[in-house]
Amino acid sequence: MAWIRLPREIAFGYGTINHLAEMDMKRVAVICGGASTTRLAEERILPLLKGSGKEAELMPGVRPEPPMRQVVEFKERLLEFEPDWILGFGGGSAIDLAKSAWVFYEQPELPVEEKIKEWGTGPIHTLPPIRRKARLVAIETTSGTGTAVTRGSVIIDEVGKKKYPVRSYDIVPDVAIYDPEVCLAMPPHITANTGMDALTHAIEAYVSTQDNAPAEWLALRAIQYVFRYLPRAYANPVDREAREKMHEANLMAAIAFSNASLGITHAHAHSLGGHYRMPHGLANAVMLPYVIDFNIPAAEAKYAEIARFIGLGGLRDADLAAGLITEVLRLEKLVGIPGLKDALGDDLDDFLTNLDSVAKDAFDDPTVATNPRKVSSPADTKAIYQNALQGRLIHG
Ligand SMILES: [Fe+2]
Repeated sequence: MAWIRLPREIAFGYGTINHLAEMDMKRVAVICGGASTTRLAEERILPLLKGSGKEAELMPGVRPEPPMRQVVEFKERLLEFEPDWILGFGGGSAIDLAKSAWVFYEQPELPVEEKIKEWGTGPIHTLPPIRRKARLVAIETTSGTGTAVTRGSVIIDEVGKKKYPVRSYDIVPDVAIYDPEVCLAMPPHITANTGMDALTHAIEAYVSTQDNAPAEWLALRAIQYVFRYLPRAYANPVDREAREKMHEANLMAAIAFSNASLGITHAHAHSLGGHYRMPHGLANAVMLPYVIDFNIPAAEAKYAEIARFIGLGGLRDADLAAGLITEVLRLEKLVGIPGLKDALGDDLDDFLTNLDSVAKDAFDDPTVATNPRKVSSPADTKAIYQNALQGRLIHG
């Protein structure tokens, strides 16, 4: 069975951030991350909230790839402030943290670590009731994670060096605001990494084992827009049209993967993020060509459809699917994405020593279940890492 589950409201386009002033909210907790988003929240978000008669408290400090202990910390901050709305403002980390902290604000007696591990493993979960105290509005300041419209919240267990992608439709935000204005200050390397995350979402949703026609149409358009507009947004951060189209790609790709699921590019990326804190979009980017290469025997026709949609030439599906890999690598070069070896940097030695454990964590990731080609054992995920490390392709 296929379905599309979404926030109740999605506002899209320049100026939509002003919708905050019209929303019926009394006490708003604004959760955000580092210095630049905090400044943006102070300059753009707080005046809109306070100027329209709402109480608002800024809760900055979410770390990139947020750890379990921050879920506890922000739960406590929320319990103290007692908001009726939580506003997640930032990239994937701030909004993912807002989602998880919200659940434990609603259900403060639940043990955080135990539950994150439970909900971050296995099937999509139904959570204990939330929305009794607060609702969630999310505003993305990057164009890639899509977390303002998705069912996911990725939290790191720093002790076990493992990422837990909590998956539940209960945490799809109530309202999502996609205003490209807040992306204009994004630096080029973040534009590139998050843009590649969006491309990975769309490609993985399109070829996943969960057939979902509406999601697939959104995925195709998102893929086309990333190839067309990411180089422009990367080269010129204030290209307003490119920023808007990339934000649109981000939104479409996220609706697609939140409803049609993902594949093992994300499994490999989650493990790289858990072990080495490699930025999520970068980790996807370095693995994507090699995962397509692995999947081609099971999904050649679907990769060929993508290739045709973005205008690549070729008559045989085999040539078109291989052409897609070449095109992904060409895009990555244009936007400064390195290979896996360079992305690991000083962690390369540790990676080589602990490859079995990194590969095992990738194999255990829940996204393996919907990958188009069956992944039989950690030997498969290990071989894909080795191919990425050596730049070795069978089909490309
Ligand atoms: Fe992702």
